[in-house]
Amino acid sequence: MCGIVGYIGTQQAAPLLLEGLTRLEHRGYDSAGVAVLGGSGLKVAKRAGRVRDLADGLPKRFGGKIGIGHTRWATHGPANDVNAHPHTDELSRVAVVHNGIIDNAAALRAELADDGLVLTSDTDTEVLAHLVARSSAKTLEQRIAEALGRVEGTYGIAVAHADFPDRLVVARNGSPLIIGVGDHEMHVASDLAALVRYTTTVAHLDDGEMATITAAGFSTYRIEATGLAATDRRAKEVDIDPEAYDAGEHDSFMHKELLEQPARAEAVLRGRLDERFGTGHLGGLNLDARELRAFRRVKVLGCGSAYYVGQMGASLLEELARIPADAEAASEFRYRNPIVEPDTLYVAVSQSGETIDTLLAVQEVQRKGGRVIGLVNVVGSAIARQVDGGIYLHSGPEVAVASTKALTNMFLAFGMLAVQLGRVRDLSIADGKRLITGLTRIPEQIDQVLATEADLALVAKRLAEAESLFFVGRVRGFPVAREGAQKFKEITYRHAEAYQTSELKHGPLALISPEVPTVAIVPDDELVERNVAALHEIAARGGPLVVVTHDSVDLGDLESLVVGRIDVPRNERELDPILLTIPLQVLAYHAALELGHDIDKPRNLAKSVTVE
Ligand code: G6P
Repeated sequence: MCGIVGYIGTQQAAPLLLEGLTRLEHRGYDSAGVAVLGGSGLKVAKRAGRVRDLADGLPKRFGGKIGIGHTRWATHGPANDVNAHPHTDELSRVAVVHNGIIDNAAALRAELADDGLVLTSDTDTEVLAHLVARSSAKTLEQRIAEALGRVEGTYGIAVAHADFPDRLVVARNGSPLIIGVGDHEMHVASDLAALVRYTTTVAHLDDGEMATITAAGFSTYRIEATGLAATDRRAKEVDIDPEAYDAGEHDSFMHKELLEQPARAEAVLRGRLDERFGTGHLGGLNLDARELRAFRRVKVLGCGSAYYVGQMGASLLEELARIPADAEAASEFRYRNPIVEPDTLYVAVSQSGETIDTLLAVQEVQRKGGRVIGLVNVVGSAIARQVDGGIYLHSGPEVAVASTKALTNMFLAFGMLAVQLGRVRDLSIADGKRLITGLTRIPEQIDQVLATEADLALVAKRLAEAESLFFVGRVRGFPVAREGAQKFKEITYRHAEAYQTSELKHGPLALISPEVPTVAIVPDDELVERNVAALHEIAARGGPLVVVTHDSVDLGDLESLVVGRIDVPRNERELDPILLTIPLQVLAYHAALELGHDIDKPRNLAKSVTVE
């Protein structure tokens, strides 16, 4: 979603800002803009479309060593040139870029209009530029604090002001902002991806904090009702390989990230398995055995793929720890006034740690006295900081919108959590050891699935021809089907619907025809016979079938009707879902490639959805 960059230093700002914006493209956006502050004041260029369109149309004389930039994902008003950020006041002395949403924008716009001001855009952000410009406080920081005092909602902002040509000011409330320290220059960004090429010495602002940034350094303050109180924020080194933000020889980040899975899966398991006692060794939970034992229910919260893997995780927890568990879309949870019980363990799942729906759900649980742990990839992210404990996913930066390696590690984190929770309850040491061994085999088995990429590409080619398809599975296989359909629709734009195999005959069978293929998840488990019987019902109606299964499964006379059979390696049946998921990622990737789509930047989608 929206992205912010900023620069102040000894070099021309515009090329650096454009480069930074390019590095934020994966987050999803529909327009972009930059503002620079030079000898002749503030200059702004912005337009709907890609960053490269903005770069191509940039005026020749666009000099200045201070600047801010933005990629916008439309919320208030359509994606057009006027609504793109930066926004300025009437005299173009203040430029503001903003992530987040100002909830009372309509009232503030009406107030400014009553005052005779003609607002030029439909956005909530524009009011901030006017409020800062209208303040008569002495310093820029005070003017911004005064403006922010009028605002309800969430923001990460960066401000340049022609009357204060030695600084940028940034502030944060609910939307990330990071300061990067360079050599006689400073960078600002809403995501590390835009900074790591220049520096890995960074400071993350906290909610309610503001920073003044000059070429020589930065100082931070807490915005309080009585004024600005200095805080002691220091920059720290982050352990991130800049190569992680480079697709290298791959045609897309998704492909790179697909292939990284075995190594990243090893990373999440490393040091967290206790083979001797057949249990997990998850230090960050901040829960001792007695506290873990006391929970009587688990509720998993997440959005999109994190929700679907949450369903896989809930079923793992129920099976292994014999504790009632379910998953719910975090985006819905908070709106139904949920009953939060003290003996329920809440688990928030998020790659980015920024998804606002998940963050707000966590806060709702905590407000009601519930205990939340997080399964989060991005270290120090909003959800990671909000939860009471958790498991970092160690996937490395995930750039493609379609989640692959983070999702896999979410499953493995659930696996470890389920074993650890199981072992303080009724899971025997023998079963604990069986599952630990199963978990350690997964990286190698993922590698085996990925080695069949060329075969999967042929099946994907066939699926890409269909306008509409079904993904079906039962019990453990159903969230696999949901995630498979999600991945497919996200990047191929085909209609892909997930159903329980058992429910087909209660409605969707009416849609089965030679034009509508079905991808069926058929593990060799206690339901295999019933699953195969349902496949006959599809085949009888001429529906093409792709079966994701184990080599031990005998499809009998169906075999000749199946257009694609994908055998994945077997693990413990509780852990099989992740191995059944991997080929679905590869199918979606190759189908999208066949259709010629921009795989890493699917239309209308954002990597991190930071607004409700
Ligand atoms: C967005 C992305 C999805 C992702 C979801 C949750 O909708 O497009 O791919 O699964 O957010 O993201 P999170 O960062 O919380 O895992």
